[in-house]
Amino acid sequence: MSSAVPHHIAIVMDGNGRWATRRYLPRVAGHKAGVDALRRCVRACAARGVSILTVFAFSSENWNRPQEEVSGLMELLVIALSREVPQLVTDGVCLRFLGERAGLSAAVRSGLVRAEAATAGNTRLHLNVCFNYGGRWDIVQAANRLAQRGATVTEESLAAEMQMGQLPEPDLIIRTGGEQRLSNFLLWQAAYSELYFCNTLWPEFDEHALDLAIAAFCQRERRFGKTSEQLRDPAPSQQAA
Ligand code: IPE
Ligand code: IPE
Ligand code: MG
Repeated sequence: MSSAVPHHIAIVMDGNGRWATRRYLPRVAGHKAGVDALRRCVRACAARGVSILTVFAFSSENWNRPQEEVSGLMELLVIALSREVPQLVTDGVCLRFLGERAGLSAAVRSGLVRAEAATAGNTRLHLNVCFNYGGRWDIVQAANRLAQRGATVTEESLAAEMQMGQLPEPDLIIRTGGEQRLSNFLLWQAAYSELYFCNTLWPEFDEHALDLAIAAFCQRERRFGKTSEQLRDPAPSQQAA
């Protein structure tokens, strides 16, 4: 049983649209409420000693949504950054964006760069926001970087070129909103993550919901291919033969 709080939590923040639709609100209102939920979650993770929080905010496939929703999300990102960054600095949060920047507007790109610069060097919590991110894209861009240098592809060299770089892989991946799929999130890094799915829609995900996910994680036995017996007694038994 894993008794410690996960070092790295990753979250597919899903359910904003349904939250809004149930209230007869436009979908973008759900995304706004989603920003409030993220603010709460960042604080709660920091208070519980989580070191890294990685969230999925906009996937490579989300460009296929109605144009009004996509532009609403882009605007919301820029507004949220200008509002939230001062508090993130105060709280010791280091913000990084993972994903393809080339497809983003100049205004969004400069917002990301400014937010990263303002929070660089903070160490209490690393907050990675996956924006215009896809797990397949991440693997391909890492492979291309190695190919350009003529470097050999190994698990280590490829992992080092991924967007998450040298950060440890997520211990726990949470998906809110009831769907049980990864939707192209952290495909490489999810190899040994514990997966936790809950029906709570992201805008309603609170400290209690986070604690339920962490409690479920603490009940899991992470075997990494070994047997339960090996985990209980790591020294190989010489008497067995
Ligand atoms: C997740 O919520 C946020 C983004 C994908 C940007 P959704 O917008 O997917 O919410 P549902 O799944 O439609 O309820
Ligand atoms: C995944 O949610 C992406 C984010 C949460 C940003 P989606 O709502 O886009 O995933 P699908 O389409 O249901 O698989
Ligand atoms: Mg969704």
